[in-house]
Amino acid sequence: MAISQDIYGGNDYLPHRYHSWMTEPGRVVIIARRGRKLVALESGLVVDGGETVIVEGLRACPKERGCCLAGVIQRFVDGYIKKVYPNVKTKRLTRGDDPGPEKLHKFTLLAVLSLRGDSEGFNSFVSGLKEKLVVSDESNSSRPLVPVKDLDALKAFLFDSDLSSRLQLPGGSNLDILARRNLTWFVDGSGGKPLFMSFHTPPYPIPYNGGSLRFNIDLYGTETSLAKKALSTHLNSVKSEIQGLVLVYIYMHQTLSKDLKRFCEGHDTVKQFQNFWEQLFLEKEP
Ligand SMILES: CC(C)(COP(=O)(O)OP(=O)(O)OC[C@H]1O[C@@H](n2cnc3c(N)ncnc32)[C@H](O)[C@@H]1OP(=O)(O)O)[C@@H](O)C(=O)NCCC(=O)NCCS
Repeated sequence: MAISQDIYGGNDYLPHRYHSWMTEPGRVVIIARRGRKLVALESGLVVDGGETVIVEGLRACPKERGCCLAGVIQRFVDGYIKKVYPNVKTKRLTRGDDPGPEKLHKFTLLAVLSLRGDSEGFNSFVSGLKEKLVVSDESNSSRPLVPVKDLDALKAFLFDSDLSSRLQLPGGSNLDILARRNLTWFVDGSGGKPLFMSFHTPPYPIPYNGGSLRFNIDLYGTETSLAKKALSTHLNSVKSEIQGLVLVYIYMHQTLSKDLKRFCEGHDTVKQFQNFWEQLFLEKEP
């Protein structure tokens, strides 16, 4: 667990996820040791019916950084995955830094907004956001957001390849993997072709400030009014489950970032945590 100290300012998901990673089907976790000490880690999850690996959790312990350990463990994981899962053709990962002139199939820019507040603060924050939606007349538009009730309903959305490619959603073949995550989904319920889908993760503990909670919201779609509504809907539905200090990370299409940042400003109780930053969502050969 100590490898996560000093990483992401104490908001690393790894200590919480590590144990469930050990039993997750299709998951590989590789650790590197120097002598008896664990010095690096990386994990991969095989998705898309065995054709794609999602790489996550790359860590080098602070004393070993700058010695190319990250390159060594990544090459080892790539080779191991190829051997154990020979059908894997694509590797997906996110990076906060510029990967340089690597050969990529494609990449997408994701904007990340983070918020920090205590659980009581979130109540008034959510009320404030709802008021802003009413004032700007964005709350009762003809596009209500409705919860996705069960797995069958989620399946119907994710197996609609038109919707899934339009909103850049994970494909239907990953339904079992998504189902394991206990996510809460909302969808643009205006009928016809939904323009927006989103989910939040359950809150989970992180080391930040001696012990806090974190949850993540993923927004799929580019319509600003639906994004604002989705954000306040998710925060509203999670607020009864949180206590103490809470960090929220909101991942979205880059075109939404300025409007959502402004939407969240002007509240004393919940504030932007880290500067807005961008992550590159990359696809390349393993
Ligand atoms: C990012 C981190 C793993 C880099 O480890 P490092 O061993 O110090 O990295 P180095 O700069 O010495 O190694 C360079 C190699 O790692 C790769 N690398 C560095 N940062 C990377 C990143 N964020 N993602 C993928 N690869 C990375 C470089 O491309 C290079 O590869 P090459 O040898 O094939 O050319 C380390 O600083 C760390 O643990 N940081 C905190 C956690 C974190 O930010 N993880 C990012 C992924 S979620």
